[in-house]
Amino acid sequence: MSELACDGAGGAIRASGNKFGCPHLGFGVGLRSVHFSHLLNHSPAVDWLEIISENFLDSQGRPRHVLRQLAERYPLVMHGVSLSIGSTDPLDFEYLAKLKRLAGEISPRWISDHLCWTGVAGHNSHDLLPLPLHEESLAHVVERVRIVQDFLERPLVLENPSSYVTFADSTIPEAEFLARVAEEADCGILLDVNNVYVSSRNHDFCPEEYLRAVPAQRIVQFHLAGHTDLGTHCIDTHDDRVIDAVWRLYRLAHELTGGASTLLEWDAKIPSFDEVHAEALAARRWIAATTTSQEANSMPTRPTNDRLLLPATVSPTSTVPHPTHLVAAEVA
Ligand SMILES: [Fe+2]
Repeated sequence: MSELACDGAGGAIRASGNKFGCPHLGFGVGLRSVHFSHLLNHSPAVDWLEIISENFLDSQGRPRHVLRQLAERYPLVMHGVSLSIGSTDPLDFEYLAKLKRLAGEISPRWISDHLCWTGVAGHNSHDLLPLPLHEESLAHVVERVRIVQDFLERPLVLENPSSYVTFADSTIPEAEFLARVAEEADCGILLDVNNVYVSSRNHDFCPEEYLRAVPAQRIVQFHLAGHTDLGTHCIDTHDDRVIDAVWRLYRLAHELTGGASTLLEWDAKIPSFDEVHAEALAARRWIAATTTSQEANSMPTRPTNDRLLLPATVSPTSTVPHPTHLVAAEVA
């Protein structure tokens, strides 16, 4: 597997190197059906788009038609929510075959999913569930990642999930577990900076130590998103702007990695495409500002969007959407 590399040029997937040869795509947004018409009619200058793979696997209707058009205009990345790499159920090769078929059709730069499990004994929870983190689960995940990569004939990029519970028999810190999976299975990492923050609040660990424990050379992509802070814990709602603490973590992640493709997720209470895109572009301005700022620890202003200076909305009565809830809604 060490020879596999991301499909940065839409051709052969070889020539391994730093970050699997994955290109820095810039600052993109997650493709959501509410923005289909805007993208098709206006072709806004967006660096790249990330799709939820499951929304297109079984569709031959308008979603797939839209996707084919967008694939001609933008670099795409496939992001899945049902690989269930950590489950004890057998890998679903029918699902993997669909992934591979779609990848052949739209030439994504890479394929990602989550370091989690979503079901067991044939039951799908439609949630990204945390794993017990110990040697046995590590070996299990590593073996399955290798199998998936061999099947897909391309590297898999795994994302750290946000979580709300941990297991009493876990013996390995999450960042170390993620790092070892990536090193031992030779896969990439999608570092969701907001997830690191949310989990750090929920489980009382240092998010900066987490970032420093993840091998920078394997980080292919960052996710940024907003969340809901309930005081005692945080919920990964993806329904608001990125908060300042997450921006600061993103700056550290950028420093540690030298930068990587960055994707803004906004999955509930989704505003206009331009507003979502502006938040993604705030990441570019934030990095540019902090690398030139004399006061590296102060928050720079974000000159083209004053609303970005507002704190994230605290909404104790929010419903709690989850990334997988998007699948059914988007497939319709
Ligand atoms: Fe994410």
